[in-house]
Amino acid sequence: MQNTFLKAIRRESVSHTPIWVMRQAGRYLPEYRATREKAGSFLQLCKTPELAVEVTLQPIQRFGMDAAILFSDILTIPDAMGMELEFVEGEGPHFNKVLKTKKDISNLGVPDPNAELGYVMDTIRLLKKELQVPLIGFAGSPWTIAAYMLEGKAPGEFKIAKGWLYENPEALHQLLHLLTQSITDYLAAQIEAGVDTIMIFDTWGGALTRSAYQEFSYVYMEKILQRLKNKYPHIPRILFTKGSGSWLNLYKTSQATAIGLDWQTSLKYAKSLLGDRYALQGNLDPAILRAPDAVIEQEVKYIMSEFNGKTGHIFNLGHGITPDIDPEKVKFLVSCVHQFSKTSA
Ligand code: CP3
Repeated sequence: MQNTFLKAIRRESVSHTPIWVMRQAGRYLPEYRATREKAGSFLQLCKTPELAVEVTLQPIQRFGMDAAILFSDILTIPDAMGMELEFVEGEGPHFNKVLKTKKDISNLGVPDPNAELGYVMDTIRLLKKELQVPLIGFAGSPWTIAAYMLEGKAPGEFKIAKGWLYENPEALHQLLHLLTQSITDYLAAQIEAGVDTIMIFDTWGGALTRSAYQEFSYVYMEKILQRLKNKYPHIPRILFTKGSGSWLNLYKTSQATAIGLDWQTSLKYAKSLLGDRYALQGNLDPAILRAPDAVIEQEVKYIMSEFNGKTGHIFNLGHGITPDIDPEKVKFLVSCVHQFSKTSA
């Protein structure tokens, strides 16, 4: 297996800086849109292992990324809990059964990852037969998933989720405990099925105050990371909270192997705070992929100069790629990262 990505995440020496892109299998690719059409819907695509394999492989085949990310979604867990997930075209995720009362929270159970989420494990096993590069498994953070479960859709201003946080913190903690158990089991099952690395997406951690982040998001993610580290010490763990720039020093004692950074956080600043303890992943602004090639090249060089090290950097965007991006720009980005890191090594 070509393992530049795994070497970089362990901060071993590499021949070039590895790159993958958040949402690399997605709507900006015409071949993704064609497979989704064949599946009938996004959720059906996630739940049909042969097709989920097909879309996972598409960006690897087209661009030669250094890692693949399992094609799935962070909301498969609440779907497996019976909340009836739907993706409404143009509106994003939506649950038919929203959590409204404390009793709704008490009635939830931890899903069996090999039963209700067995389709994810089937996808991983099939992928491992096909892939020449490492496979990243993932889950959402307890807080991010809870925010969707309480709001019923994309959180917007977080009126409902933060309402629970400040009016009913015990009930929210109960939900976060349940999700922590569910996510730990789910990621452990992904590791058993064959993923080479796991990543936690905390998309909405940055919407909290620093102290609420510590109490309602970070501690739970650390529990998951600690449990996985104890059981699978050889599997690297990536922690990504969007909007974490102002509290990076909290990560000084994290159980993560790598910290993902959004585009607002300087790699140089992160390195100066965290030293060489972690690999860093990121952090090109996805919007820069709209710019002329010369600007993309300049930004890639800037990010690499900020990191200023031969290993321990995994190039990525600071958040997911958007559907409006021309695939040719991604091709250019990948070649820039590979070429420039080789010549500067
Ligand atoms: O290629 C990959 O990165 C792997 C697959 C992946 C998807 N979602 C596919 C997807 C991953 C890792 C995710 C994670 C995810 N899902 C997050 C965390 C990362 C982030 O972006 O912050 C979140 C918050 C979700 C929830 C979610 N799923 C939303 C808000 C949406 C709608 C987004 C939109 O722009 O409409 C989705 C749908 C989704 N998940 C798509 C894809 C490719 C688009 C669905 C489609 O084909 O219509």
